[in-house]
Amino acid sequence: MSSGIRKVGVIGIGLMGSGIAQVAATQGFDTVVVDVSPDIVERGMKRIRDSLERIVESHRKSSGERGFDATRRDQILSLIHPAVERGKLLDRDILIEAVVENEGAKKEVIAALSGMGYRRTLVSNTSSISITRLAGAYSFSDKFMGMHFMNPVPVQPGCELIRGFLTSEETWQRVVAFCKELAKEPILAEDKAGFGINRMFIPFLAEAVKVVEEGVMSCEEADKTTLCLGHKMGPITTLDYVGLDTTLAIAEVLEEELGPCYRPPVLLRRLVEAGAAGIKSGKGFYLWEGGKKAGVNPAVERYRRK
Ligand SMILES: NC(=O)c1ccc[n+]([C@@H]2O[C@H](COP(=O)([O-])OP(=O)(O)OC[C@H]3O[C@@H](n4cnc5c(N)ncnc54)[C@H](O)[C@@H]3O)[C@@H](O)[C@H]2O)c1
Repeated sequence: MSSGIRKVGVIGIGLMGSGIAQVAATQGFDTVVVDVSPDIVERGMKRIRDSLERIVESHRKSSGERGFDATRRDQILSLIHPAVERGKLLDRDILIEAVVENEGAKKEVIAALSGMGYRRTLVSNTSSISITRLAGAYSFSDKFMGMHFMNPVPVQPGCELIRGFLTSEETWQRVVAFCKELAKEPILAEDKAGFGINRMFIPFLAEAVKVVEEGVMSCEEADKTTLCLGHKMGPITTLDYVGLDTTLAIAEVLEEELGPCYRPPVLLRRLVEAGAAGIKSGKGFYLWEGGKKAGVNPAVERYRRK
């Protein structure tokens, strides 16, 4: 089955929105991506250009075997239309909401688009917020569901699809088809806190923070456990990549719906309160300079010693 989708809209050009726009354009979809200010839009476009440049570079190093040259890069970029005006989203066949992990912010965006007359398929990239509750903000709740891309979007081959209680069979089938057209493997889940993936993964990350917090391991040692677990990246570094604010927000949803054993660790909360959100803010568990680690955050070291 074909999804029938040609024109894609992405709301939010942060870590995830920029990756989603890049993937949609790479698969030939005409893509509008909207964020709140020209500065943020430019930062997101730079992330996309840098990501494509890395692919061109690896193509060069592979003596052209990857089949991705500068012409292909420019072709992809020409399909991405960045903007700050929400009105540019209204002619899209599907909208992918990828704003901050905050229920109020997401509902405001969804209700505003609905109020402006948008009436086609709308999906949320939320990591944990109830799809059924978010659907309540959309006048066409049968056309709403979850499409949870993984970070980094251009690299991860899977995408979790979440059916809300009100999602119609037609919407579900269309989004499954669209997911395949994006060259992502659909992973199907129902609407419960954290869905399937974060229900399993966030407790693992939270436990890694407790291991550091309690002095069982340093950040570096906790990260070295990948050598035994077979993961590509250690849990502490993963937290800095995912964003400590995003992780905390997901952990809070898990705690609220599933109980106190999902309570986020204090160290995670303190770092977020201190503005240490991970790579995107230059520090999290580690300090980051030009995308590279520059040592453990001294605040984390001090906290451990107590
Ligand atoms: N970070 C991850 O690893 C990850 C993985 C899977 C899913 N997610 C989910 O993706 C979503 C986005 O996360 P992120 O990591 O990209 O966050 P981010 O902070 O990097 O980006 C969020 C973007 O949303 C924009 N925004 C906020 N309000 C807006 C509005 N009203 N209109 C348009 N843009 C608005 C912000 O300016 C920012 O650019 C969240 O729901 C998160 O849970 C994140």
